[in-house]
This record gives sequence, C-alpha cells and structure tokens, in this order.
Amino acid sequence: MTRRAQIIHLILFLSSLVGISWAVTGSFAPPTGDASIWLHCGLLMVVLGMYWIEPYFTKPADVVINGLVVYISTSMLTNPPYQPWWLALRYMSLGLIIVAFAVVWAGSPAVPKHDTSRIKRLFYLIVVRIGNAKILFSAVFFLALLSYFDLHSPIARWLVVFWGVLLVAKHLELEGLVDFLRGVFRVRSANPIGQLSRFAEPDIVRFQIDPNAICRRGRLVAFTSKGFADGSSPLAIVIGHRTGRTSVEAEAVLVDSKFAEGALDNRRVVTKVDRNDPMVAARLSDNAFGSQLDSLVGFASQKSDIGRLRFELNRGTQFEEGHLVSANSLTGTPILFQLINGILFEEPGLESGERAFTIGEAQQLGTWDTHRQGFSAYSWVVPENALVFRHSERTDVQKVLKPGQVDVGHVPNSSYPVNITLADLVLYHSAILGVTGSGKSFLAYFLLEQCAAAGVKVLCLDLTGDYRRYIHGGVRLKSLATVAAFLDDTASRIGIVEFTEGGGKHPITATKEIARATLDWCRTNRTKEEIREPTAKVLLVIDEAHSLVPEWNSNPVPSLRDTVNSIAQIALQARKYGLGFMVVTQRTANVTKSILNQCNTIFAFQAYDETGFEFMKNYMGFHYVQALPNLKKRQGVVVGKSSVSDRPVIVRFHDQDRQAAEQEVPFFESAQYASNEVEGA
Ligand SMILES: Nc1ncnc2c1ncn2[C@@H]1O[C@H](COP(=O)(O)OP(=O)(O)OP(=O)(O)O)[C@@H](O)[C@H]1O
Ligand SMILES: [Mg+2]
Repeated sequence: MTRRAQIIHLILFLSSLVGISWAVTGSFAPPTGDASIWLHCGLLMVVLGMYWIEPYFTKPADVVINGLVVYISTSMLTNPPYQPWWLALRYMSLGLIIVAFAVVWAGSPAVPKHDTSRIKRLFYLIVVRIGNAKILFSAVFFLALLSYFDLHSPIARWLVVFWGVLLVAKHLELEGLVDFLRGVFRVRSANPIGQLSRFAEPDIVRFQIDPNAICRRGRLVAFTSKGFADGSSPLAIVIGHRTGRTSVEAEAVLVDSKFAEGALDNRRVVTKVDRNDPMVAARLSDNAFGSQLDSLVGFASQKSDIGRLRFELNRGTQFEEGHLVSANSLTGTPILFQLINGILFEEPGLESGERAFTIGEAQQLGTWDTHRQGFSAYSWVVPENALVFRHSERTDVQKVLKPGQVDVGHVPNSSYPVNITLADLVLYHSAILGVTGSGKSFLAYFLLEQCAAAGVKVLCLDLTGDYRRYIHGGVRLKSLATVAAFLDDTASRIGIVEFTEGGGKHPITATKEIARATLDWCRTNRTKEEIREPTAKVLLVIDEAHSLVPEWNSNPVPSLRDTVNSIAQIALQARKYGLGFMVVTQRTANVTKSILNQCNTIFAFQAYDETGFEFMKNYMGFHYVQALPNLKKRQGVVVGKSSVSDRPVIVRFHDQDRQAAEQEVPFFESAQYASNEVEGA
C-alpha cells in the first residue's frame, strides 16, 4: 500500500465515521458517555491503527499503546452490561501491556528475526497478533455493540457492515479506482506554461512560454481554456524554440492534427501534460503519430542533406553505430537512417545557462522494399525540427530470400537482412578490405561457397594455407596445367591453388597465368546467349592480394610490374566472359588500383589506414569512411552493385560455425593430366 493510498483510505474512513456518528447520535458533536466507547475505542482506533499507525505491521511498542487505550477506556465504564466480559477484556489488555513491555524491554527487533531466541519470538508473535489495532479494537467494538445497541436495529447492522468494509478495503485497489475516476473527468495536471500565439503550418502551433516556465523539446502539452486539460484538449509535442528579444516562443506539432484553428482559439492556455496519465496514454495509443512518441529520440537539426540526417539526440538516449532511426516523410512513410557518428556539443542554452547536447549523424538507408528485399534510396532532405524516432525493433521484416540472393548478415540491432545478388558479386568484381583478423577471409569463404552452391566454379589463390583448412569439399590444384581440366570437371566446384613463395614461379606470375588460363577457358565455353548477356561462370578469389597483385610502387619485384598490369587487363575483359575477381586484403593502399578500381562491390571491415580511406571514400563517401575505425567485431560496410540496397549499409555479418581441420584435401586428378603430373614430378 502506498503512502498516497493510505492517506486516501484514512480520509475516506474518517469522514464516514463522522457521518456514522451523526447517524447514531443525531449530532456532529463527538459523542460522550459509556455507550460512545464503540466509536472512541472501537472503530476510530481500528481506522487509525490500520491506515496510519501500523499500516504494514505491528510492533510490540504499538501493542503497549493499544493495550493502554483499551485498559483505560474499559476501566472508566460504570456498570456496563456483560460486565464479566468487559472485565476479561480489561485484564487481557493489562496482560498484553505487560508482556509487550517485557518484549520491548528484552530488546526485541522490530521484526522477529531468526537469530532471536524461540521464547522471545513466540511472545513477540503472540502479542503482535492479539494486540494489533485491528483485533484489539474490533473486540472492544463488538462488545460495545452487544452491550449498548439493539442488534436487530438497522444502525447496528450498518455499523457491522462498515467494520467489514474497513477490514477488506486495505486489499482493494482503491487508489486505482480514484485515479480512474479522476482521469474520466479531467487530465490531472494543471500546469500552465504558456499562451498560444499562432499557427505556423496546419499542424504546427507556436506558443509563448511563461517567463518562469521550463518547456523542453519533446515535452507533451495540451491546449486548454483554463489550464485544465480534458479529454478533448488538443495535444502537441514541443519541437523547438524561437528566442525573441523579450520572450521565448515554443513551436509544437499537434499530435492529432484534426483540430481546426478555430477550435484552438478558445484554448489559449498551454499546459504540461503527463504522458503516463491514463487518459493521455489512451489517446496517444489511439493515434498513429501519438503511438510513435514513445520512441522519439530527437529532432532533426540544421545541415541535413539528402543522404544524411543530423539530429539532436534527446538526453539519456543510448545509441551505437549502425543503429536505426527514422523520420517520417511528407507522406508519412518512415525513412530509415543508420547512425554512424555522435558528436557532443555545448552551447549557451535557452533555458538554463550552458547546455550540452549530442548531434547524431545518420546516413540514409531509405525505405525497406519487401519486394526487392533491400533498402531503396529516397530523395528527401529531412527538414529542421522533424521528429526522429528510434526505429522500432519489433517491426516484423518480411524476409524472403530471393533466388540468386544470399543474406550476409543483418543491420545491427534490427532484423533487416543485408542481401547480396551473387551474379552481380561475381560479374562486377568485389573487394573485401579491413584490418588483419577482422574476418575478411571468413566472409570470402562464405561468399565463395554460396557461389559454388549456385553453380559458379571457384578458384582460390592462397598464400596462407588457410583455405584448405577452412573450406570443406574443395580440391587442390597442383599446377597450371590442371586449371582447364578442373573447370571442365563437373564433380568439384571449389579449387584451391596454394602458392608457396620462393619455390618455382613467382606467385605474381602464377597468378597471371592462372587468370589467363581461366579467361581462355571462359572464352572457349561462352554460349551464344552469354554473348548477349554474360552469366557468372568462374570466381577467382585472390586473398592476400597485396602480395599477388601489388600496387606499382610496392611491387617487390619491379620486373613483375607489367605482369600485374596484365592481370588488370584480364580483369577488364573478364565480365564479358563470365569471370569475376574477388580481391581480399588488409592493405588496401598496396593493392594495384588498376584492379581495385574495377571492384564494384566493397565489403569494408574495420580499418585505420588513411591511404586506404582515400580509395574507399569514392565508394561509400566520406561519412562512412569516418565510421570505419569504430566498427565493431564482425561489422562492416557493404556497398556496390551486388548489394540489394541502393546506399551503403553497416552490416553485422553472420557468425559462422567453421572449424579449422587439418584434413588432407585431395588433389584434383583428371585422367588426362594426372599422368602428366606424375611424369613431371
Ligand atoms: N563470421 C565469422 N564467424 C565466426 N568467426 C569468425 C568470423 N569471421 C572471423 N572469425 C574469427 O576471426 C578469425 C580471423 O578471421 P579471418 O581469418 O577471416 O580474418 P582476416 O580478416 O582474413 O585476417 P587476415 O588479414 O590476417 O587474413 C577467424 O579465425 C575466426 O576465428
Ligand atoms: Mg585472411
């Protein structure tokens, strides 16, 4: 029972007692004489005990007082009916006083604890059970009823009913009932904070804030005639302030824009209302806009542009990079933005000296297109002061994996999948970039396996030996001679070529030869339809690309610079013949741009290297590049032709359950070439 509920009960019962006393005695003056003991030492004490003095539990000290009251009151009766009973009650209360006093004296705790002795606990429990106000004074009340009232009279019956109500009321939700009744008649708060001044736009209203009032952005207000909001007071949310020389005006957007200007006219007093007030809450939840207010996180500030939303975050809002916010377009469609940065600002405030605030910077994803299964860009600049909401995580995104698409992860903190079209991934080349250990190779394994499953032949050029350990179901190619045979073969789809630097041909040369052989094979196997429209046939994965296709100035063997150029030339023609490159590196700056620039899809993990940023800026723009150093584990930015979304997306890649196995990966053996190899060895 709350303190407030206690007070409500106390007031209700005390005033009823005055009424009852009047009904019994015919006067408002306090009754006197023996018979009045039903009130003074009966019901009144029950009310005070239950709802004021010992509302939660009874202490032995309370019992001493209760006992004394009963002892003294009963001692003053002169020849009452049922004398022996009164005597018994009197001595019992005397007994209680003594025992309770002894318990207090013995240093009993307020609540019987297990570490006190059993005897003490027993006495404690006996005195508080019998000596609490409810029991002791009820006994007095009933004996008085028996002694001084005609039990068949209506008044006696009503007294008993009142006593019953008194006892059970504690367990009723009286407080809730009172709140409900108040809510029905009017919204609780009368907190005038200003005066309506004018309409700015159909649903935007301005009001002058009273000099001493505080009215922050995001506050819910109501327009009233006298300061009391009722069920039909228009509600609005404060979205901004305008400071004049002598006054401050607040701008508020009407939650329910059906209110006409005339209707507001006689409701000039602006008052604060509480969002949790039952009636306000009910109205907000009935209203599409109102129901969004709970997720309001801020307001658009200046300098937003088509791709970017800048907004002032409400105090106490917790955000991380990649989280989604939304703003409603003019037609009410939620446009999604992904947070990429938060900056703390300080500025002299309008209300109370300095104010610190955070500007969130979010990049537009656009609207979710269920049909495409990606985000479509939306050309619209979020106007200043537009409301920004945390995108509801409950939104059920209808996920359907379309044929030819794979889902590489999801937008952090949401269930939006991030989908990739495999054919475009292969045909338009891709690059996976990021610091060492960020998960580039793991992403490559996943993507290449998906391509293989979709019927694309995959050739992996590997300097590390990891591909053989992590990719199951592949074959190893011994030499260049087996490339064409492997591509012809229908049994295995993933071929791994391991280069060991130092032995035989230089890996750069080997890379060129394999690329050339693959292109030749693709050319030979091109069908007529594929001349018109190429299909993805072979994916060439070049991991540790800074070693296999190095940039001009970082080429360890200057004589191989032209070789790298030839590889870039192959990449240039590759699409026509259905050959795609996937370049994986932790050193973006050291990979030849003549190949990287051809990669249309970029997967960028966490990165710090400034020289690499220059390159990535062209793909994802300055703002996403800024976010790269702060990306979390397994997060990356995906952008480009194969991404189903129009704009870059920060994605949380799937966790993969992939274990390194030192199993022997079989060498690719074809009847034709196997013998050659043996001979050559
Ligand atoms: N999607 C994933 N699911 C589970 N574990 C992962 C995932 N991605 C990476 N890892 C873990 O992180 C480790 C490093 O990943 P990975 O080898 O892909 O990094 P990398 O970016 O290729 O690094 P390097 O540049 O050194 O080659 C893996 O061995 C694996 O344990
Ligand atoms: Mg790697």
